Amino acid sequence: MYFQLSEEQLAVRDAAREFAKLELLPGVVERDTNAVFPKEQVKKMGELGFLGMMVDPKYSGGGMDTISYVLAMEELSKIDASASVAMSVNNSLVCWGLEKYGTEEQKQKYLTRLASGEVLGAFCLSEPEAGSDATSQRTVAEKKEDHYLLNGVKNWITNGSSASIYLVFAQTDSQKAHKGISVFIVEKGWEGFVVGKKEDKLGIRGSDTHSLIFTDVKVPFENRIGEEGFGFSYAMETLNGGRIGIAAQALGIAAGAYELALAYSKERKTFGKPISQHQSIQFKLADMATQIEAARLLVHKAAWLKDEGKDYTQASAMAKVFASETAMNVTIEAVQIHGGYGYVKEYHVERLMRDAKITQIYEGTSEIQRIVISRGILR
Ligand code: CAA
Repeated sequence: MYFQLSEEQLAVRDAAREFAKLELLPGVVERDTNAVFPKEQVKKMGELGFLGMMVDPKYSGGGMDTISYVLAMEELSKIDASASVAMSVNNSLVCWGLEKYGTEEQKQKYLTRLASGEVLGAFCLSEPEAGSDATSQRTVAEKKEDHYLLNGVKNWITNGSSASIYLVFAQTDSQKAHKGISVFIVEKGWEGFVVGKKEDKLGIRGSDTHSLIFTDVKVPFENRIGEEGFGFSYAMETLNGGRIGIAAQALGIAAGAYELALAYSKERKTFGKPISQHQSIQFKLADMATQIEAARLLVHKAAWLKDEGKDYTQASAMAKVFASETAMNVTIEAVQIHGGYGYVKEYHVERLMRDAKITQIYEGTSEIQRIVISRGILR
């Protein structure tokens, strides 16, 4: 067992930390207040290689390991979880599956542009009546002579309006339930594809979450990924990795709030001394630091298993459920340590507390993670 990060991994972490401080921090409160997508910042993240970190350099990726990816995710999420979820979706939910299961033609046409950050991708599984119960897909792709005809509605889609390339799940054979689900690459601008309502959210307000409407959209055969019926398995495998990214995001939100609370506790004085010298605050800081360290170990373990080519299904679910609950606990305590100042926007911790909540919901709720973990235990 070896807990030391390599020189390269440390360099990635430091670059992400620097980028977050210089490029994400300015304007983060305003972007949150006005629900503005960090367009320029995400573009720069692409230029720096943060949007296709693990993709093979021959497809314009960074060729890095998953540990480097979670280190970068943690650092960016300390400051701006809206920017980091755009990164997580592009890396884990879009590039990963395309690289693993796409044809050479699909990789040349789509993956290279996604990995370089030239365009953003979105992962379109959820529907108005298919969230946790993801097998209940109602979107349909009907096979015609030389194309599929796509009809349906997707909900809660991250990068909904900013993306150019969408991975869309649809039933190609409803008789076969989840084994009749397939996955397609759809481009923005195709006739019949409309970006719908933007959600007005509690947290990650800078992330553009939309519904998407598909009406008789013609999808060429060559845009199906894998065989017909492979879509649900593709979604589950992809989400196993995606959950490591969201766990790292939750870890970053917790660590960001903790760092702010620690610094504040050394400055703020009550009853004649810094509040960090009151045991009630010291115990809070001790619990926060311990939970964060435990979450980091779970996140790194899941990332390491993935890098080693071992099964990470359970590990990623454990990392996500624990890190997201840590993010919620730690951010609530960070607000409490800040007292009244914690409740106003300029001190950042109230935003982190609002951002933390979604990590217990998207890419599989905490309840779904517990299903995945318990099935693994009882198998
Ligand atoms: N890894 C690999 N395969 C899995 C799997 C996993 N974690 N979980 C299930 N499967 C496989 C099963 O082995 C089974 O395969 P076979 O039919 O070949 O045996 C198949 O999937 C169906 O599984 P179940 O019979 O267990 O189906 P179920 O309906 O009882 O449970 C579920 C499935 C685990 C609850 C699944 O629906 C699920 O994970 N739901 C959550 C969906 C989710 O995470 N949505 C997030 C949306 S994306 C998002 O949030 C992105 C964003 O924009 C940020």
